[in-house]
Amino acid sequence: VRTSDCADIVDELAKAGLLNEKNGWRRVLIEKPFGTNLDSAKTLQSSISKHLKENQIYRIDHYLGKSAVQNILTTRFSNPIFDPVWNKDFIDHIQITNHETLGVGERTTFYDSTGALRDMIQSHLLQMMALTMMEPPKSFSPNNIRDAKVTLLNSISPIEPKKFDSSVYRAQYTSGNVHGEGAVEGYIKELGNSKSVTETYAAVKLFINNVRWQGVPVYLRTAKRLNQSGTNISIKFKKNIHPNNEDANWMIFNIQPNESSTLEITTKQPGLNEEETRNTSLSGFNRIDGDETIDAYEILMLDLMSGNQSKFLHIDEVEAQWRFIDPIIQYWSKNQGKVNQYPAGEKDPDSSKVIFEEPNQFWR
Ligand code: BG6
Repeated sequence: VRTSDCADIVDELAKAGLLNEKNGWRRVLIEKPFGTNLDSAKTLQSSISKHLKENQIYRIDHYLGKSAVQNILTTRFSNPIFDPVWNKDFIDHIQITNHETLGVGERTTFYDSTGALRDMIQSHLLQMMALTMMEPPKSFSPNNIRDAKVTLLNSISPIEPKKFDSSVYRAQYTSGNVHGEGAVEGYIKELGNSKSVTETYAAVKLFINNVRWQGVPVYLRTAKRLNQSGTNISIKFKKNIHPNNEDANWMIFNIQPNESSTLEITTKQPGLNEEETRNTSLSGFNRIDGDETIDAYEILMLDLMSGNQSKFLHIDEVEAQWRFIDPIIQYWSKNQGKVNQYPAGEKDPDSSKVIFEEPNQFWR
């Protein structure tokens, strides 16, 4: 459904009297992306708000219906050990990653006009970032949680024009071998248009301009047709004084496929060499046998029916997200020649490291 179709559909629903709440609630659910840039999101909003109040509009990002995504808030705010270290004094950088072994499949037309940045980073990854980095909400009411996310999203520093080259990176998959599928075609071949510069891999570095996060790089990246699938939030803590703790302390939320939490610590290796250390992983599954399995969309539908908007996007969040994403899209459309390539089924392209702030940083 195109953005303009959403507006037309809501107009027609209104004309038919189907949005009138005299005899009970009327709610409209709109799948992400809400608009295709800031302007179209605003146009859509002003069109549908002629007929609907904000509490009738449910803007879906199905990642918010994933239990493992909601667990970010539970972990942060139910365990007092995390709060004192959740800031620039202790955290070196944060990586939020979504990789898929799948290609674009049947959706070539949609995907080619969307690209990885708009498809995944504009909402799913920025929402996970907001939950990971927002200030503690005033209370855990839906409104207060949304307010905390809006504040965080509005604090993303725009990328400075001269820093685009070292802050954003895009690539397209070429033919290759994917685990479980064997030989697969490249994106251009699937699409049948050799001129396309649409990215199937996107990586972005950003900074949050507030007291808690000043100077901490956040890396968001997503890809189709990588060597493995998985969604992770990986938090790298700073080095301590021991000479051998270069890689110490990662906290990792695995959103999928495992739904696990991992804290990596440096420990002494038993033996004669006093200096020998290794990484010990304190890891546990958040989903265990017998746990309820409810699809993210089912959870969101239930919330919609009970009128709970906490897991839906407020228009202010949508606008803040586009405000950050739009300049990247504009930059890429002006620099059509610069699309990198990676063979399907391989790891992150080496050239993506161009966005790292420090030479010792690496992709988790
Ligand atoms: C959708 C994107 O929003 O999310 C797809 O349009 C992507 O391209 C999908 O594959 C990923 O969702 P999930 O729940 O499978 O991680």
